[in-house]
Amino acid sequence: MMAKPSMLVTGGSGYLGGWGVRLARAGWDVTATYLAHVVDEPGADWRQLDVRDEAAVMALAQQVQPAVIIHTASLNPGHDDDFEAVNAVGSRNVARAAASVGARLIHLSTDVVFDGQKGSYVEEDSPNPITPYGRSKALAEEQVQASGAEAAVVRTSLIYGWRPTVARAVQWMIDDLRAGKPVRLFTDEVRCPVWVESLAAAVVELADLSYTGVLHVAGAQPLSRYGFGVRLLRFHGVDPGPVLPTPSLRDTPRPLDCTLDCARARALLQTPLPGVDEVLDQERNSAR
Ligand SMILES: NC(=O)c1ccc[n+]([C@@H]2O[C@H](COP(=O)([O-])OP(=O)(O)OC[C@H]3O[C@@H](n4cnc5c(N)ncnc54)[C@H](OP(=O)(O)O)[C@@H]3O)[C@@H](O)[C@H]2O)c1
Repeated sequence: MMAKPSMLVTGGSGYLGGWGVRLARAGWDVTATYLAHVVDEPGADWRQLDVRDEAAVMALAQQVQPAVIIHTASLNPGHDDDFEAVNAVGSRNVARAAASVGARLIHLSTDVVFDGQKGSYVEEDSPNPITPYGRSKALAEEQVQASGAEAAVVRTSLIYGWRPTVARAVQWMIDDLRAGKPVRLFTDEVRCPVWVESLAAAVVELADLSYTGVLHVAGAQPLSRYGFGVRLLRFHGVDPGPVLPTPSLRDTPRPLDCTLDCARARALLQTPLPGVDEVLDQERNSAR
């Protein structure tokens, strides 16, 4: 039997990274990393890694000699504010390590590298981030492009799902509503939410291809945060009645329309990228 090629997944303890590991392990010899949340899922060799530690990132890459690195580790909004160190410097460290061992790099980025003034962004549109997180992810993209690694930069959108746990983007709404707290959802912030299982499948498919450069990979259905929240709450059996539809706060700059044009990904990949209604209908039907 031929040995499987080797893959390194950073942020394997995260939501997307976990699905990346689950879907990749059939075809790849997977090494996956965590920082604070120790994982003992089978099918991967788990290692602790802080991507801010340049020497540790390089040492792990030298040891594993991956053919592909999927870099999902990231500090996301709502967590902390060390965005630049983790997202920009960390991604530089990972990209330099990929270049040095000749690994193909799949780097995860975000729709909020854009300012949200235009919408339907294509890969050639220029980033113009207006939040600290967005700026750190835009800097990360520059670091990846400058590293010399063979890299695909995957810009994606709001990630949702319910296996093995409900996604963060949805769980807080359920918790707050159940606790009787007011939940306000913006009506003027539009995204293309993506189901974690289809995003992970797309990323693993991309690992096997030779595509380099930016690729927009998100769901097919543009939705406001309000439209998204109401659908997901109903799906989880929670009455969205008390949710207050509200325009986003004008005193803090927020990117409004960050919808992504994913035509290129649809042409390139076999993995479907369905919209929210299609995913939820499919799941309801398969549960019957
Ligand atoms: N979630 C979204 O809606 C969304 C939208 C657009 C783009 N994205 C992008 O998609 C990717 C995956 O997002 P996600 O929501 O799946 O992330 P997540 O669930 O928040 O997981 C983040 C992962 O990064 C790890 N991590 C954090 N700081 C680290 C550090 N200093 N060194 C090494 N690892 C570190 C965490 O490890 P521990 O948990 O073990 O500490 C965890 O495994 C990210 O690049 C994100 O920017 C996400």
